[in-house]
Amino acid sequence: MRTARLTLDRDFTIAPVSRRLFGSFVEHMGRCVYTGIFEPGHPAADDRGFRTDVLELARELGVSLVRYPGGNFVSGYRWEDGVGPVADRPTRLDLAWRQIESNRFGLDEFVTWTRAAGVEPMMAVNLGTRGIQEACDLLEYANHPGGTHLSDQRVKHGAAEPYGIRLWCLGNEMDGPWQVGHKTADEYGRLALETARAMRLVDPDVELVLCGSSNSTMPTFGAWEATVLEHAYDAVDYLSLHAYYEEKGDLPGFLASAVDMDRFISSVVATADHVAAKLRTRKRIDLSFDEWNVWNQADFHGRGHEPFEEAPQLIEDTYTAADAVVVGDFLITLLRHADRVTVACQAQLANVIAPIRTEPGGPAWRQSIFHPFALTARHAAGEVLRVEPSGPALETARYGEVPQLSAVATLDGDDVTLFAVNRSPDEPLELAADLRGVEVRGLVEACAVAEDDPHRTGGQDEEVRPRPLDGVTVDGGKLTALLPPASWNMIRLTRRA
Ligand code: AHR
Repeated sequence: MRTARLTLDRDFTIAPVSRRLFGSFVEHMGRCVYTGIFEPGHPAADDRGFRTDVLELARELGVSLVRYPGGNFVSGYRWEDGVGPVADRPTRLDLAWRQIESNRFGLDEFVTWTRAAGVEPMMAVNLGTRGIQEACDLLEYANHPGGTHLSDQRVKHGAAEPYGIRLWCLGNEMDGPWQVGHKTADEYGRLALETARAMRLVDPDVELVLCGSSNSTMPTFGAWEATVLEHAYDAVDYLSLHAYYEEKGDLPGFLASAVDMDRFISSVVATADHVAAKLRTRKRIDLSFDEWNVWNQADFHGRGHEPFEEAPQLIEDTYTAADAVVVGDFLITLLRHADRVTVACQAQLANVIAPIRTEPGGPAWRQSIFHPFALTARHAAGEVLRVEPSGPALETARYGEVPQLSAVATLDGDDVTLFAVNRSPDEPLELAADLRGVEVRGLVEACAVAEDDPHRTGGQDEEVRPRPLDGVTVDGGKLTALLPPASWNMIRLTRRA
């Protein structure tokens, strides 16, 4: 039996847990909005058309903020189409996903939905087909108190109080050749700078996210970040990262996906700090990891030649136990970088590569990846602790040698929570933790997501879910546990006598 060790010490802190790390994403894509969160006429829909079964699951998931309305969709979107009387709203073509967009759901509905869900809205502006003026108009409509044409329109549409949206994305994946209105780094950097300056004139309290690369395999990755930051550093607060991972028939490599996420974050931090040094500024740019998840892209061949359709079934991945373990490891990784990653959004919330699935007119249910997210969002609190794991390594074809154990802990008053992943597909791992630095008195709960078959999927009956992790002992300042192969684990401890 191989053993990995770690230490919990209240002095080894990384940063406070930002609630904004538990964000999600609602795009006008496939069935995320229509028949996902919004389905007038559904037996569980309220009088606004919001599916209350999905709202309840979103609350249980612990989502803290939701990015909207895209994604690639935003790069051809006219926000004005989605406000005011529904009967007057135009039906449009969406070029990103070849959809028919009815605009029955738009900004007004989204903000109302976020209030019902108890989450913070995060908006993206269209910097693909549109520019500075439309971004300022949208911000004025949303956040200006009143007395101007656009803010008075919002009031007329039923919202007397400003929406007060703080977080704004300056476009989406503008480095991607697939993006409608794709730009070079210089073109985008200049446009983002001028848009940011103008938006701050409308509302000085906004927090602005500059587009980083669409993913770390883009040929321009690194250079893109440096160039756009050199243009816009002083005007923005965050730089975005996006990453999706899939198994591609390589379970050991897939289980180590968070190693790549970790390297990606470190590279972007280094690039941002390099630009800060060049610009001789002490201002630090934080990271917004505003799209991350497991996405079996091999199953998706794009929509380039499909007929336009309303709310088509798009990338409705069914998740396995292994996917849940990897998602849990992503959350561990985001927490381990909590000093720089302060916003993160799992993509997406409902149906489209999502923890929540629905049937039109039918039930809503939790996918396997729901559980590590919900438990981390509920129990990661207070300060993130650096646990300094050491132990055996695994050899993977994808990422070379990787640590078998991935772990992080949080300390919130008397509550200590340890999150740990055993990345081996077939070997259990003994965990030995030194607890003296946090003076733990007892075990509260230990659970794991682990199935004998890591490819087991949970369907509507939610067969893949957390189960008790037996055999955890806490004795004399030492914790021992046996982590099953391919497992995500949560161990809750108390400092109370
Ligand atoms: O989340 C699905 C898509 O993935 C988004 O629209 C886009 O930003 C990313 O490439």
